[in-house]
Amino acid sequence: MALELKALSIDDYDVIIGLWADAGLSFKPFGRDSREMMGKEMSLPQCAFFGIFDEQKMLAVGIANYDGRRGWVNRVAVDPDQRGLGLAGRIIGECEAFLRAQGAVVICVLIENVNAPSISCFQKDGYLFEKEIGYYTKRDSDKA
Ligand SMILES: CC(C)(COP(=O)(O)OP(=O)(O)OC[C@H]1O[C@@H](n2cnc3c(N)ncnc32)[C@H](O)[C@@H]1OP(=O)(O)O)[C@@H](O)C(=O)NCCC(=O)NCCS
Repeated sequence: MALELKALSIDDYDVIIGLWADAGLSFKPFGRDSREMMGKEMSLPQCAFFGIFDEQKMLAVGIANYDGRRGWVNRVAVDPDQRGLGLAGRIIGECEAFLRAQGAVVICVLIENVNAPSISCFQKDGYLFEKEIGYYTKRDSDKA
């Protein structure tokens, strides 16, 4: 299988949403995952979306966001039929390279504490669990 890893654009929106759905990741189509908001996010120079393709079919996806203080790896998902092949590792590696090029010296990921495969995946890549830190949010709505 000759796979190609490439940066995504808003033209890939439907494929990205489709892969998140197939992978079982929830998303916010009326909030930060709307076509409009993702288009804005993609236009920021410190953000990049990456996908791995087999011909026209996208098998894996992930987002790198640098906020000026930390780099974030977000929304990594792999087609359920293509897991265990190292695709997430390749996406994470590409996100990390992008974030380091932006200047990030700390790279973070938020993972639900029941998501054992993802926890294991990031721990294998060297990420440490910071058990003293909680995730607090202030949302404009429950759709945000
Ligand atoms: C988590 C996920 C992205 C891993 O994708 P993947 O391509 O199968 O992962 P990789 O093949 O790169 O595996 C890397 C490491 O992750 C760990 N891992 C992956 N799947 C695992 C599983 N089901 N159980 C335990 N560990 C797992 C292993 O340590 C693995 O290393 P190994 O193959 O040497 O044992 C994939 O399961 C997925 O898309 N899950 C649904 C979406 C999701 O939860 N995304 C994360 C949001 S934070």
